[in-house]
This record gives sequence, C-alpha cells and structure tokens, in this order.
Amino acid sequence: MQKRESAIKAAVQKHGKERKNLLPILQEVKQIKNYLSRSDVAEIGVEMGLALAHVYGVASFYHFIDLEERGQNIIWVCKTISCSMKGSNDIVMTLKERLKIKLGETTSDGKFSLLETNCIGWCHKGPAMLINDEPYTDLTPEKVIQIIDDYYTNN
Ligand code: FES
Repeated sequence: MQKRESAIKAAVQKHGKERKNLLPILQEVKQIKNYLSRSDVAEIGVEMGLALAHVYGVASFYHFIDLEERGQNIIWVCKTISCSMKGSNDIVMTLKERLKIKLGETTSDGKFSLLETNCIGWCHKGPAMLINDEPYTDLTPEKVIQIIDDYYTNN
C-alpha cells in the first residue's frame, strides 16, 4: 500500500498534474508495479484532479498498460488483419496448447500470461507477437514452441 501510494505521488510530482502528463505517469507507475489496479487508477485520478473515467479510458486504451496482475512474461499475439491472414490463430492455438492456458490467463507457475493485441508494427513479417517488449516475427507453430522452450531454459 505504502509503495503504491508513494509511487503514484512521486510520479505525479515528477511529471506534473497537467492532463497531458497522464500517459507518462501511467507508464511510470505501471513500470514500478507491473500492472495498475482499479485503486491505482482511482488514486492517480485523485492526485491529478482528473475524472476516474478519463484515467481509466486512457489506461485501458494502451496494451502496455496492464490493468490486471499478470505473469512474469507477457505474450502479446497480434490479432490484426495482416497477421490474422498469415495464421495468427494457429500461433494462438499453439501457445494455448504449449502453455496449457486460455487467452487472458497466466500459467500456474506464473511464468507467462497470454494476450492478444492490435497491430504492433511488424505486419510485413507476420504473424508477429511480443514477449514483454521483444518482437518475434515470421512465426510458425514450430518456431513458437522453440521460443517458449528457450524461455523456460534461459529465464
Ligand atoms: S497486423 Fe500484425 S503486426 Fe501489424
């Protein structure tokens, strides 16, 4: 509780309370906590003097601002049309089978969460996904299994 409140106060103090600073503040608090709870969103609104609906609207628009606690590594599979036409559904199915979770879930060891996102800018090399901030492109089911196995071996 103390850590959350002080992180929010420190971020608001650092960036300033103007509306335009909301996104960097959300990013900074998310960086410290790994996700933003509803009470974090509310607290940021109070600190900045902004409506909860506005803060929540901005926070929920960006995939990199997570509003739920996730696993150690977050997999974001692109679901937008170019990747979809190149087989992103097969990539999602392979990940679900390999990790034994559904979309939106976290593995029981807390290692991975599996999510979908809109275009991540690698359309020409789709299907594509991010693991945390790292892009993986030209994916095939075989390549995805190898990537996950490497994560389990090296991280
Ligand atoms: S459509 Fe998938 S990265 Fe752009």
